[in-house]
Amino acid sequence: MDFIILNKKFHPNIALIQLNRPKELNALNLQLMTELKEALIDADSDESVRVIIITGNAKAFAAGADIKQMNNKSAVDMLKADQFSTWDRIRRTKKPIIAAVSGFALGGGCELAMTCDMIIASETARFGQPEIKIGVMPGAGGTQRLTRAIGKAKAMELVLTGEFISGDEALKLGLINKVVPVELYLEEAKNLAIKIAKMSPLAAQLAKDAINKTFETGLYEGMQYERKNFYMLFATEDQKEGMKAFIEKREPDFKGK
Ligand code: CAA
Repeated sequence: MDFIILNKKFHPNIALIQLNRPKELNALNLQLMTELKEALIDADSDESVRVIIITGNAKAFAAGADIKQMNNKSAVDMLKADQFSTWDRIRRTKKPIIAAVSGFALGGGCELAMTCDMIIASETARFGQPEIKIGVMPGAGGTQRLTRAIGKAKAMELVLTGEFISGDEALKLGLINKVVPVELYLEEAKNLAIKIAKMSPLAAQLAKDAINKTFETGLYEGMQYERKNFYMLFATEDQKEGMKAFIEKREPDFKGK
């Protein structure tokens, strides 16, 4: 892979995926997105991986889709390239994904962070959907996910002005989980990943699945869906182990079975 580094070495249950196109501020060209999809499929199907972190570097998480790859395209070219099918596959990742964001998370970069399940940001993070400044609009879920995360008024403002917000403001608006000094954002994301990796991986996946259903269903259907996932966990050894460990006053040892 040229633009993605997949590292499974720092923790036995965590895959760290780094976007690695630093000179272009990790602009998301088609190859990078395909490699990212492949890395996520690898991590999702690797039994030992329980949590995934996606990060960039201190200066940029990602400055958006690659404008130089799109500027001369026609609507038909865009339709045929079908670049968002890659994004659809990323969205189907079963394991929890944490975005560790520093610097620019703009356009497709902001959309990628929002496609993840949680966002840890550095104080230097800048979130925004500046597509309007180049004559287009968000295309990888920005109008939908940003609106659900921060509400209509602020989403309208960000998408229609293209202005950026800081990590602190993103935190206040409920877009992200935490802001920390730049030297700590990856560490903080790892700490969160380690906490989640100690839980039953099956419970984590089914809980993620049920939370994401919120965005696709009404309350009644969502609760039926949650109930089905809840009952399904009673078919796992992890449920027996978790409840037994509680009663025996010890730490559970979850095996993902
Ligand atoms: N696509 C292609 N190249 C990009 C890029 C992008 N999205 N963002 C930055 N780059 C390149 C620059 O062209 C530059 O390359 P050269 O050195 O070859 O000129 C290099 O990365 C460094 O960028 P700057 O010199 O511009 O760095 P800066 O610090 O002065 O500015 C910035 C940083 C404010 C992020 C500015 O680069 C910028 O505005 N980038 C574009 C942001 C944007 O519009 N993103 C939305 C893209 S469209 C989209 O994402 C659609 C969608 O919904 C999927």
